[in-house]
Amino acid sequence: MTKIQIFDTTLRDGEQSPGVNLNKLEKLEIAKQLERFGVDRMEAGFPASSTGDFESVKLIADTIKDSSVIALARAVKSDIDISWEALKNAAEPALHVFLATSPIHRKYKLLKEPEEVIDLAVSMVKYAREKFSIVQWSAEDASRTELPFLAEIVEKVIDAGATVINLPDTVGYATPEEYGYMFKYISENVPNIDKAILSCHCHDDLGLSVANTIAAVENGARQVEGTVNGIGERAGNVALEELGVAFKIREDKYPYETNLKLNEIKRTSDLVARLTGMSIQANKAVVGKNAFAHESGIHQDGVLKHASTYEIITPEMIGLTSNVLFLGKHSGRHAFNDKVVELGYDLSDERLKAAFKEFKTLTDHKKEITDDDLFAILTEIQTDTSGFDRYEMDMFQVQYGTNNIPTATVKLTTPDKRQIEAACTGSGSVEALYETLDNLIEEKLELKDYRISSVGQGKDALAEATVQLLVNDKQMTGRATAQDVIKASANAFLNAVNRYVIEKQVQQAQVK
Ligand code: KIV
Ligand code: ZN
Repeated sequence: MTKIQIFDTTLRDGEQSPGVNLNKLEKLEIAKQLERFGVDRMEAGFPASSTGDFESVKLIADTIKDSSVIALARAVKSDIDISWEALKNAAEPALHVFLATSPIHRKYKLLKEPEEVIDLAVSMVKYAREKFSIVQWSAEDASRTELPFLAEIVEKVIDAGATVINLPDTVGYATPEEYGYMFKYISENVPNIDKAILSCHCHDDLGLSVANTIAAVENGARQVEGTVNGIGERAGNVALEELGVAFKIREDKYPYETNLKLNEIKRTSDLVARLTGMSIQANKAVVGKNAFAHESGIHQDGVLKHASTYEIITPEMIGLTSNVLFLGKHSGRHAFNDKVVELGYDLSDERLKAAFKEFKTLTDHKKEITDDDLFAILTEIQTDTSGFDRYEMDMFQVQYGTNNIPTATVKLTTPDKRQIEAACTGSGSVEALYETLDNLIEEKLELKDYRISSVGQGKDALAEATVQLLVNDKQMTGRATAQDVIKASANAFLNAVNRYVIEKQVQQAQVK
């Protein structure tokens, strides 16, 4: 078996998905789960892009020990310096510096001649090597670059000290045959290629990202880049869980192994979906809700007789257990704390107390508390940004009946601690509620999307609401879980607004 390194870019390319705005604590939670998932390297962000990104990358670099942490930099000295500041305490700091190479990018974006592109790439790789022992250089839009030019620049950046060469299909345009051939060509035409690892990075614009990634591996790539659930720019990146499972199930065809722990797939996928607000389509390969559902009578009959008739992946393989009932109304603090540790959470005393309180409140309404419920509670607690001034919900009431006009009344405390209240009507209860919140909140708001789903199953399942809001024209995602749909909807709306409010406070503090 040939070892393939997994490079996760959920927190960088994945975070570039429209509407995704993770705060520092949410990014850290995802990073910790990626470490559990077994990724060899995680791209924690782009530190030079904002102070917020710098701080998240630093926090992740200071915390994560079992995966190498890498950050993205443009071919600019100050980007490399800032990245070093963010990464210098990492267990294995690594830098990812990129420069576009295709004729389209050279002509229209960089306004540079081929020789100038080579000189810049070489000088930045040399500069990066003064600080980092692992330097990955990416030829942005490699798949639309003339192969002889690509070979020339790759040879020169390896001479300059690049240890990993990444050849992305930046716009998801390549076919498997073309993309595979590019790796073969580079392997055969770059004399010093044995001094670097070849890496692939595929986008899914034509739905070819998995096929392209496999073609790259079959032609010499030994590092694969991708994201959890395939999130990312436009149509996204290759989904790592799909690759991991494809390599495992078809090891007869693909003699490759990774360090991924496949039984962490479900948990990783759920966490990323919950925190990014990017829900997973029901029929998505491996992690979709229907991936293990058999609808037709013939299939059900077959599976009952022998699962392998229609099931090539087992739910257990990806960590989809039967969501065991674990604690109830009478469970004490001790049993609760043990369960938190068993689920892999490391909570401060204060957060542990808050989580136990939430759990107890839930047991008043819900008889069976499952792992999924607990994950929802713990994720909320672990990523809570209390300590910042923000809108607080003091009270809300919604009246709905078939014979009256839906009306909502809301009382809020503003970030500067004033109490405000209003009441509005709407054609439905959520509309009335959102109309009232819009009325009260002193920012320009536009609702772009609103989704509600359940955590687990059953009438008493927790409701999870996700809201996309334009706050002063900036897209923010808010989410919340609650026993009640209306409460989850109200809190998700406020959560989106508060992200904006907190981001502004962080920026103002930095200016001071
Ligand atoms: O798709 C791409 O080309 C990228 C680079 C920054 C590697 O994400
Ligand atoms: Zn990309």
